[in-house]
Amino acid sequence: MARPRAFLARRFTPAVEAAIEQNYEVVRAGQDRGMSAEEIAGAARGAEVIFVSTAERVTAATIAALAPALRVIATLSAGHDHIDLDAARASGVAVLTTPDVLSEACAEIGMMLILNAARRAHEADLLVRGDNWHGFAPTLLLGRGLVGKRLGILGMGRIGREVAARARAFGMAIHYHNRSRLAEEREAGATHHASPEALFAHSDVLCLCAPGGTALERVVDARRIALLPAGAIVVNLARGEMIDDDALIAALGSGHVFAAGLDVFAGEPAIHPGYRGLANVFLSPHIGSATIETRDAMGMLLVDGLDALARGETPSNQLC
Ligand code: DGY
Repeated sequence: MARPRAFLARRFTPAVEAAIEQNYEVVRAGQDRGMSAEEIAGAARGAEVIFVSTAERVTAATIAALAPALRVIATLSAGHDHIDLDAARASGVAVLTTPDVLSEACAEIGMMLILNAARRAHEADLLVRGDNWHGFAPTLLLGRGLVGKRLGILGMGRIGREVAARARAFGMAIHYHNRSRLAEEREAGATHHASPEALFAHSDVLCLCAPGGTALERVVDARRIALLPAGAIVVNLARGEMIDDDALIAALGSGHVFAAGLDVFAGEPAIHPGYRGLANVFLSPHIGSATIETRDAMGMLLVDGLDALARGETPSNQLC
């Protein structure tokens, strides 16, 4: 019997691709780069399942072009702001995502961004690499310590709580704002703030961990940046659209914001050019979940979800 067709818009880890190949006739994209919605609509014709990532937009037009064969959109991401869920729902197309399994890896990147921003890692690397280091100096590249500082987490879901757990070990006091206040055992001593404004005013380090979506677009704007204590650090491992880049770049230039660590960008990979000229920004290419272990686990979660759907079950990672 002919196997159903799966279209892979990206390359996935060898273990994941091998698992997909067991049950599907696999069609791969020509190149491993972000595909446009139109390209997917053209290349994935006849596919029952399309595997995408956060870099591919799946629009209502893509879904309409791939109907009626398309049954499942499997995205290697916890975020789903790149998929038109209403259109999927209306066409009876299931959407599978990869929540939870990436929380620890993303929290590690959160700490990487915090540490690299606070301790001026970009400048340090450039100095040594460029052969401009003239030896130890008592005032060379003074950064900001973390002990006793307040870490303000915007979005205290799984990833936010994993960041909090790691930051506590660095001696930081945890503050957070979330849509709803967490139960006491989940707060683990963290201080809740009822508004982003209150959180910003209490954040020596502000860390964005909330899922994407229009509600938090540009939540980091000039007005709220002004509420941050002077010399604060801003870190983003969520979605680039949450930051007004012009406002953050101005605050980094004036020194009101001491440094930033950014793993995600509005319009990525075409980042705001202003960041490139700033020494006090640590830049990273959306690699929050990029460990071998995590990318395997994310892919296998999708494969398991497909198996569950084939058995007529509803997998826990099915959004619609
Ligand atoms: C996610 O899972 O949404 C991350 O941004 C990586 O895609």
